[in-house]
Amino acid sequence: MDPERPVHKKRIAVLASGRGSNFQAVIDAIAAGEIPAVCVGLITDNPGSHAIERAKAAGIPAVIVEYARFPSKAAYEEALLAAMRGCRADLFVLAGYMRILGSGIVHAFSGRMMNIHPALLPAFAGLHAQRQAIEYGVKVAGCTVHLGDEGTDTGPIVIQRCVPVPPDDDESALADRILVEEHKALPLAVKLFCEDRLEVAGRRVWVR
Ligand code: GRF
Repeated sequence: MDPERPVHKKRIAVLASGRGSNFQAVIDAIAAGEIPAVCVGLITDNPGSHAIERAKAAGIPAVIVEYARFPSKAAYEEALLAAMRGCRADLFVLAGYMRILGSGIVHAFSGRMMNIHPALLPAFAGLHAQRQAIEYGVKVAGCTVHLGDEGTDTGPIVIQRCVPVPPDDDESALADRILVEEHKALPLAVKLFCEDRLEVAGRRVWVR
C-alpha cells in the first residue's frame, strides 16, 4: 500500500455460533495491522458461544440473538436484521455461524457478506463437510471463503486452500488440518475486501 495515502478502515462485524477460532483469527489479523478494518461487533445466536469471551477480551461489543427466544423464524430474522443494521458494518463475516440466513438478510447485505466453509466447494456443502469428504474418499480437501447468497454455501468463491487427505485420516484430524488453512484464508479474504481489491463478475471473483 502507498504509505502516503490515508488508510480508510472498513467496519466489519462477525457472526459466529461456536468456538470462534475464525473470529479470533480475523481480530488477531486486525490487531496485527494486517487488515485495514475495525471490528465493530460480534453477533451470535448462541449464548454459550466461546466467541462471546473472545469479543469481551478484545473489547468488541457482543450481541446475542438467540433463535429459541423468538416465536417464529420471521421474528428471529427481523431481530437479526436489526442487530446487523445496528453494526453499520461494511462487511459481515460469517465465521462458523450455524444458521441459514433468510433472503431478507441476504438481499440487505448483498455483496457484503462472506462465509467460511470447511470444504472445497462446490463439493460437500452443508453440515459435516469434513465427514462428507472422508466418506466420499477424496484425496484432497480444504476450505472455501465465499460471498453470501441465497443458497447454502453457493456464493461466488473468493479464496480456497487445500490440504491432503491421507488414507488413514479421520474426521477430527481432517477438521484440524483444514482449520489451520481456514485461519489463513478468512483473514486474507477479509483483508482483500477491506482493501477494495475484490471485483465480482457473476460467479467469478477477481483479486486486483
Ligand atoms: C469452521 O470449521 C467453519 O468453517 C465452519 O464452522 C467451523 C467454525 O469454527 N463453518 P470456529 O467457531 O471458527 O472455531
